[in-house]
Amino acid sequence: MNMKVFTHYMPVKVFFGKGELGKVGNLTRELGSKALLVTGKKSMKKLGVTDKVIELLRESSVDVTLFNKVSPNPTDKIVEEGAEVAKREKSDVIIGLGGGSSLDVAKGISIVATHRGKLWDYIGEDKVKEEIIPIIAIPTTAGTGSETTPYSVFTKKEILKKDALVSFYTFPKISIVDPVLMKSMPPELTADTGFDALAHAVEAYLSPLANSLSDALSFEAVRLIWGSLVKAVKNGNDIEVRGKMALASSIAGMAIAQAAVVAGHAFGMSIGGVLDTSHGRTVGILLPHIMTHNLPEIPHKIAQLTGALNLSTAGDSIKDAQKVIKSIKEMMEEIDFPTRLGALGVNEQNLPKILEDSITQPDIENNPRKFDRKSAQEFLESIM
Ligand code: NZQ
Ligand code: MN
Repeated sequence: MNMKVFTHYMPVKVFFGKGELGKVGNLTRELGSKALLVTGKKSMKKLGVTDKVIELLRESSVDVTLFNKVSPNPTDKIVEEGAEVAKREKSDVIIGLGGGSSLDVAKGISIVATHRGKLWDYIGEDKVKEEIIPIIAIPTTAGTGSETTPYSVFTKKEILKKDALVSFYTFPKISIVDPVLMKSMPPELTADTGFDALAHAVEAYLSPLANSLSDALSFEAVRLIWGSLVKAVKNGNDIEVRGKMALASSIAGMAIAQAAVVAGHAFGMSIGGVLDTSHGRTVGILLPHIMTHNLPEIPHKIAQLTGALNLSTAGDSIKDAQKVIKSIKEMMEEIDFPTRLGALGVNEQNLPKILEDSITQPDIENNPRKFDRKSAQEFLESIM
């Protein structure tokens, strides 16, 4: 037996289920009494969710300050602005309510409010050395899994660069995963974020850092997504299906928290930095291409996903792996998901910068089939 050495650390208390948002007041009170509520500019306000959360917090004697300035692909600047508010208000608990962007900004604020220097000083792995303000994550998209990861992702506009901050301190203390909050996602956002979750599950499965526990998480996330993503795109009101996607996203987050991601996310990050694209759409487009690229290296691993996709097997790992990739492409076709990087605006002019940033991303090192500059360039050109 190939007995791999690994550590599994998942310190997040996850509250999952329809209506669980109702617990936000009491759960926050366990961690602090002065909350900073970090959220986006429109959707949660419009739906009355922001007001509802504020009301629940106040009922539990928690003071609330609202910071509703988060935009997609959040910048270091917005984190630093939020951290000033947290310091001024002496916030002792930070709540992220929204998509991955709001959850990540909550994480960033908590670091900058408790540490010297700028957010960018902490980009990279394990640069945070002390406890930060406790974080509560309440996702309203089913994609990033930020509610169960030690990751947060930020953009530095001046250098058109997107990068990840990896720190065990940024695992939320509590995550409230309530699928009711996701019903309002329009079809395109549902598809983009759903493909992000699928990319996490699959990339973690292909990762050299995968272990049997992360594999179990990946496999279950793929299985859930396979049975529900198309349905969620076609009928966003189906709460059963929203629940499965919400669960899949948090489970896939647990998988990447252990096994990380591979080259799909390295390319995806640099494209997002240069072109400010939808993260899920970007890594979703890359997914079948990255699987195809890795097929010669780990056909057996990709082939095992026939089980999660409920496909019959030919007993030949290459053929079975091809079948898995073909099925994912068919799913993309069914919901009109784009399949080439040109759809994101990648072209000959911006390719050199995208390539440069990709080959220095740590996730590219973690790819089973190694990329060098030349093969990375050929790969990107072949899928434009
Ligand atoms: O700003 P508002 O008005 O709230 O609107 C948002 C935003 O415009 C909207 N939205 C969110 N929930 C909604 C909703 N609209 C209707 N109904 C709802 N229930 O959706 C738009 C996109 O939101 P955003 O948070 O940007 O999307 P997503 O959840 O895809 O997050 C993407 C960000 O997460 C990072 C990405 O790089 C990107 O910056 N990631 C974070 C990870 C992590 N922390 O572990 C891992 C991921 O791989 C990813 O990199
Ligand atoms: Mn992702």
